[in-house]
Amino acid sequence: MGDIKQAPRDLVEAALAARDKAYAPYSKFHVGAALRTEDGKVIAGCNVENAAYPEGVCAEAGAISAMVLSGETKFDEIVVVGLGDVACTPCGGCRQKIREFTGSDATIFIINDSRETLLTLSRDELIPHSFGPENLK
Ligand code: THU
Repeated sequence: MGDIKQAPRDLVEAALAARDKAYAPYSKFHVGAALRTEDGKVIAGCNVENAAYPEGVCAEAGAISAMVLSGETKFDEIVVVGLGDVACTPCGGCRQKIREFTGSDATIFIINDSRETLLTLSRDELIPHSFGPENLK
């Protein structure tokens, strides 16, 4: 984990606004994520839980689905915010989902409630030695 680079303001605000929409009545842990596509679009997602607990969807996965629906399949930056001051680092499944749609130059920012950047990670720090589309070629 290298130097802390500050998360971009527009993604910070979009992630916080998305977190306000989270549907998390079971864990009560609200998460927001906002990414910037290669073409410069800002797309956000929130976690959406379910009474059948494993059926919940993470905020990052929601943002990625919305990005694909919008016609894009690549993003450069993503900001994730959970609750409080503990870094909400993406789960294993979301790391793989982020891997699918990023280059190795992508940046993952984890911020807190106060808009402070807690972690700035490269794609390879997030998911080292990853398996990706290139492995299937
Ligand atoms: N969650 C996310 O949406 N993103 C993360 O990076 C970690 C966890 C969600 C899943 C679940 O709805 C809640 O947070 C508690 O695990």
